[in-house]
Amino acid sequence: MLRIALIGLGNVGKAFVKVLLAKAGELAKLGYEPCVVGALASRGGVMGDGCLSNKLLAELADKGLYGATEVRSIELGDLISLNPDVAVVAIPPSYRTGEPNLSMYRELVRNRISVVTADKTGLALAYQELVGEARARGVYLGFTATVMAGTPALPLLRGLRGRSIDSITGVLNATSNYVLTLVEGGLPMIDAVKRAVEEKIAEPDPSIDLGGLDAAAKAVIMANTVGLPVSLRNVEVQSLLNLNEAYIRDAVRRGVRVKQVASIDLAKGRVSVKPMEVPAGGVLGSVSGNYNTLIIRLRDGNEITLIGPTGPAGATAEVMFSDLLEYVELRLMMGKG
Ligand SMILES: NC(=O)c1ccc[n+]([C@@H]2O[C@H](COP(=O)([O-])OP(=O)(O)OC[C@H]3O[C@@H](n4cnc5c(N)ncnc54)[C@H](OP(=O)(O)O)[C@@H]3O)[C@@H](O)[C@H]2O)c1
Repeated sequence: MLRIALIGLGNVGKAFVKVLLAKAGELAKLGYEPCVVGALASRGGVMGDGCLSNKLLAELADKGLYGATEVRSIELGDLISLNPDVAVVAIPPSYRTGEPNLSMYRELVRNRISVVTADKTGLALAYQELVGEARARGVYLGFTATVMAGTPALPLLRGLRGRSIDSITGVLNATSNYVLTLVEGGLPMIDAVKRAVEEKIAEPDPSIDLGGLDAAAKAVIMANTVGLPVSLRNVEVQSLLNLNEAYIRDAVRRGVRVKQVASIDLAKGRVSVKPMEVPAGGVLGSVSGNYNTLIIRLRDGNEITLIGPTGPAGATAEVMFSDLLEYVELRLMMGKG
C-alpha cells in the first residue's frame, strides 16, 4: 500500500486526484495500491481513520476540498501523524518570504516523508539544503512538474549530467509570451496584463510571471540539476513590466522580438532572467501560446533544443504521477517493497 497525503487541492491538486483515480491500477500492479490518508488546503482539510473513499476522492477531484466535504480544522502536523509515505504538494509559490512553503518541505523531509511537488518555492530558494536533507534521510523528492510541466525538461537535463554543458537559454514563462504578443499587436501593457489576469492566464499578482520570478525559479532548479548550486536570491531578474510599448513594437519592425529570456551560464556560474531581443524566426523568437523552449549548448559544440507545452493542470498532474511511479520503482529497487 502507498499512503499518500494531498497538500493543495486547486487546479493541479484536483487534476492529480483525477489522474490517481484513473491510474491507480499502475501502482497496484507494482504492489503499491494507493491510499489517500488525508488532504489539506489553506483553511483546513479532511482525514479519516483509514483511506479516503473513492467516492470522496471523485468529489474532491470534481469540486475541490470545500465543495466536496465538511472541512475540519487540521494542519500539516495532523497529516504527518497519519504516517504518509509521500506528500503530493500543489500549493501556490511564495518567492518573497518562502513561507509557509519552505517550512512545510523541511517538516516533511525531517519526518522522512517523500515529496512530489509542482510548487517551485522550496527548490528555488533552498535546493541544496532540501536535496541534501532528503538524501541524508533516504527520502524521495520528485519535482519534474516544476519546469515546463507538460514537457519534462528535468529528466533530459539529468541525462546530460555526464556531459559538459556550457549554457542553457530558454523562454520559460507562457504568460509573458502572451502579454508581449498582445502588446506587439497594439494593446497598452497595462491592458494586456489586465486581460491576461481576467482570462486566468496570469496569476493575480502579475509580478510573478511578468516580473520574472517564475522563470527565475525554473532556471534555478535547472541550474542545480546540472550542478550549479544557485538560489533564487542570486539570480539577476529584470521585469517586463517596465518596458516601453513602442520599443516592443519597434522590435517587430526590425525583425526581432522581445522575449523574457532565462539564461544559465555554467562557466561563469551566473543565472539571469531579462527581456531580450531575439531573432523573430529563431527558436526563442517563434515560441508562442503555452509553449516553452530551451536551448542547451554543449561544450563539444552540439546543441539540443526542446520545445513543448508547459502545463496545463492536467498534464502537470500526469507528470507528478510519473514522479510517484519513479518513487515506487526506487523503493522496489532498494528492496523496501
Ligand atoms: N497550473 C499549472 O498548469 C501548473 C503547472 C506547473 C506548476 N504549477 C504549480 O502548481 C502549484 C499549484 O497550482 P494551482 O494552479 O493548482 O494553484 P491553485 O489553483 O491556486 O491551488 C492552490 C491550492 O493550494 C492550497 N493552499 C494554499 N496555501 C496552502 C497552505 N499553506 N497549505 C495547504 N494548502 C494550501 C489552496 O487552498 P485554498 O483554496 O484554501 O486557498 C488551493 O487548494 C503552484 O505552485 C503552481 O506554480 C502549476
